[in-house]
Amino acid sequence: MIMTEIIAKKRDGHALSTEEIEFFIEGYTKGTFPDYQASALLMAIVIKGMTTAETHALTMAMLKSGDVMDLSSIHGIKADKHSTGGVGDKTSIALLPMIAANGVKMAKMSGRGLGFTGGTIDKLESFPGFSCEMSEKQFTDRVNNLGLAIASQTGQLVPADKKLYALRDVTGTVESIPLIVSSIMSKKLAAGADVIVLDVKCGSGAFMKTLDDARELAKEMVEVGKLAGRKTVACITEMSEPLGVAVGNALEIKEAIALLKGEVSGNLRELCLTLGACILTESGAFENHSLSRAALIKGIEDGSALTKLADMVEAQGGERESVYNTELLPKANTVLSVVSDMQGYISEINAGEVGMVSMQLGGGRATKESEIDLSVGIVLRKKVGDRLDKGEILAEIHAKNEEEAKKAAKALLSCYKLSATAPEKVLFIKEIIR
Ligand code: URA
Repeated sequence: MIMTEIIAKKRDGHALSTEEIEFFIEGYTKGTFPDYQASALLMAIVIKGMTTAETHALTMAMLKSGDVMDLSSIHGIKADKHSTGGVGDKTSIALLPMIAANGVKMAKMSGRGLGFTGGTIDKLESFPGFSCEMSEKQFTDRVNNLGLAIASQTGQLVPADKKLYALRDVTGTVESIPLIVSSIMSKKLAAGADVIVLDVKCGSGAFMKTLDDARELAKEMVEVGKLAGRKTVACITEMSEPLGVAVGNALEIKEAIALLKGEVSGNLRELCLTLGACILTESGAFENHSLSRAALIKGIEDGSALTKLADMVEAQGGERESVYNTELLPKANTVLSVVSDMQGYISEINAGEVGMVSMQLGGGRATKESEIDLSVGIVLRKKVGDRLDKGEILAEIHAKNEEEAKKAAKALLSCYKLSATAPEKVLFIKEIIR
């Protein structure tokens, strides 16, 4: 087999065989082929697409490029959750303890963020002392003993994705369903859980801008998960305005804690209950969604979900007290209220642009080497559909200093669009695909 023939075959719109796909992944991971050949094949895949069988073969070839977690020493069903990424997405931080409080084990591998805000690991490091670095044995022990753990993904898990993703990032080849599916699913399958629940975001702040594209991505991920023998469910959810009210690392942690204290309503809570019900039902812990939802709500009301979060924080080296007293989390020097000079109904808060404001405050990484400031970010006081009058506070900026806060406030105002009448309500949980 030679690479030029494989590239030409895909360029001409033909399906590649499993052997050809394995040849490419093995060779590229080992460094046998140069980046320019891999880039050419990736672009041909972007343009010509792949069949489900090819996407499955690509996922499995990537999975085999590195280590696979062995979770067999963990008793019972192990579940994992993945989101395709959104602004203000702190779901995992609240969801994992909600599930663990109901007896299903959450063994989660997470990454750091590049772009708008930090990833789940960056956010969790807002708890003083918290660490996601641990050996495989510590990870399985913690999941066994407490019911949950979050570990940072090691480079040994799917090294093919590490190399390919870096190349896709700089060659305009990120936006491709087979490439996204194989990238996400190879990592999820390598992480070893029995049940995988996927939150596929859809809208202006997501990879997939339309419901049709999000559905195609969700279906393909579910199919590949099932072909690999895992129970896989995908929820398609709206991501046009930021999720919840906080954008920024410690601020998002505070919001997740508030949810576990029963102080949050709206889309964020709805998302946690929906994803949570999928996990508990697929795991066989409860017979159906309504029983699973009721159990999740009970875990919030009786405080057991919050206790699970505190247990996890303590086990991973963090300050347990900071779960109960959020004054101990990183705090920005300056908090500036953004006052509205407009009036009307909020029809849009552009999630991507709000994410950029947070990044410019220091809450996200522009490059892999950038240091994140965990304390900065934005708290939205008004959301889409709310009425806004001149002189009302629409958000708070948490910044290093006044100058940066003022700059961010100006940029934030341009993320809003107003209309004279209330906008039509958009369905937040769009579809569940099994
Ligand atoms: N997230 C991933 O891990 N991979 C992609 O290709 C896109 C989003």
